Amino acid sequence: MTASIDRHAQTAAPIHPLLASRHSTRALAPDVDLTDAQAAALIEAARWAPSAGNTQPWRFLLARRGTGEFKRVLDCLNPGNRDWAGTASALLVAVRTDANERGPLSHAMYDLGQSMAHLTFQALAEGLTVRQMAGFDAAALADEFGLAAPLVPTTVVAIGVAGDPADLHESVSGPDRAARVRLSVDELLIQP
Ligand SMILES: Cc1cc2nc3c(=O)[nH]c(=O)nc-3n(C[C@H](O)[C@H](O)[C@H](O)COP(=O)(O)O)c2cc1C
Repeated sequence: MTASIDRHAQTAAPIHPLLASRHSTRALAPDVDLTDAQAAALIEAARWAPSAGNTQPWRFLLARRGTGEFKRVLDCLNPGNRDWAGTASALLVAVRTDANERGPLSHAMYDLGQSMAHLTFQALAEGLTVRQMAGFDAAALADEFGLAAPLVPTTVVAIGVAGDPADLHESVSGPDRAARVRLSVDELLIQP
């Protein structure tokens, strides 16, 4: 029996309840499928994110649990992520494109991140949760799915319904049991 921990943000000023409630969880319900409507809404939210010069330097590979693609993405995760992400309803590979026909896209990483922020909040509105991952073998993933430059797999995003941290193996449950911390407002505001 483990004490549950309040993972809501302790905010210094009121913020939107969805933002305050968002947190990354490794515990995901293993028996919930992503519906077609949810999948469409997530991609649509990402699609309508702003980007530098409207270059939209994001591409997505959505793999649902139970498919061969899901297993292929899962196999490219670092062991510490593979040990919990298998219960996700879907794994989404967030891919940036570093150039288009007009040349390099200097803000591709930034823009892709912003599209993931939009996807994250659509997910919350759908009753879903996401946990993003940098812990994967990008070269192996690119090779597995034939993603050649300028396409760069940048994160893998686990999407699902929040589960019970008590169901996680103790080797990966630490983050779900830890208090959420942030720099103070004073620490992050640059004084002119
Ligand atoms: C780009 C990025 C990479 C991340 N990589 C991992 C990862 O490989 N494994 C993991 O369990 N969590 C990963 N996370 C989740 C962070 O650890 C988490 O967002 C952070 O601790 C703050 O917690 P919060 O999202 O609950 O506010 C990543 C998050 C981001 C945005």
